[in-house]
Amino acid sequence: MSHTPTSRGQGKPGEAIREIVFDAAAISRRVQQLARQIEADYSGRSLLLVGILKGAALFLSDLVRHLSFPVEIDFLSISRYSLDSGGGEVRIVRDLEHDIQGKEVLLVEDIVDTGLTLHYLIQSLLRRRPASLAVCTLLERPELRLAEIPIRYAGFRVSRDFLVGYGLDYRDRYRDLPYIATLKLKPSHLSAKPVVSRG
Ligand code: PRP
Repeated sequence: MSHTPTSRGQGKPGEAIREIVFDAAAISRRVQQLARQIEADYSGRSLLLVGILKGAALFLSDLVRHLSFPVEIDFLSISRYSLDSGGGEVRIVRDLEHDIQGKEVLLVEDIVDTGLTLHYLIQSLLRRRPASLAVCTLLERPELRLAEIPIRYAGFRVSRDFLVGYGLDYRDRYRDLPYIATLKLKPSHLSAKPVVSRG
């Protein structure tokens, strides 16, 4: 990649970071392209973008700055329990401030893996009767998909490599990196997503 990594302490390649997969320039270009697509579909209409915390915060904030029409912003925070802990379920722990009934809503994610998080959220939010509900994700990993969900806008397809940066974390670190990268950690450390308490 042409991007020269910054010397941001924890994320400097040569330490924990193995390889930059998408540098800041590539991310920015793709975010702008997604913004153009969203404009083509929604311009002139009233749109609410809903970011799923925490990972989507960086992507959403860049995305809205590239939209040429006014939008509203809200955030959801969820907890997810692993099957091991008896749940396998998603729960909203910080709900929207907006009433979405009759609104055009775009859910914004940093990454879709199994799709189970969005599957739950879509079912849950559809009960509130929005005028429309669509999904925009920066990354998607089709190999891991367990739930069929409609993704209208997707930035990049990625493989199974565990990724950090630009909102993506490992144990809540590396979200602040301006690029998306792989880690040097052994796969055994990353074999399963940690049981997460999000937001
Ligand atoms: C990530 C991502 C999605 C979810 C996707 O969140 O932001 O919300 O996983 O996974 P799925 O498609 O398998 O359901 P994470 O649990 O890492 O929390 P975070 O956003 O706070 O980092």
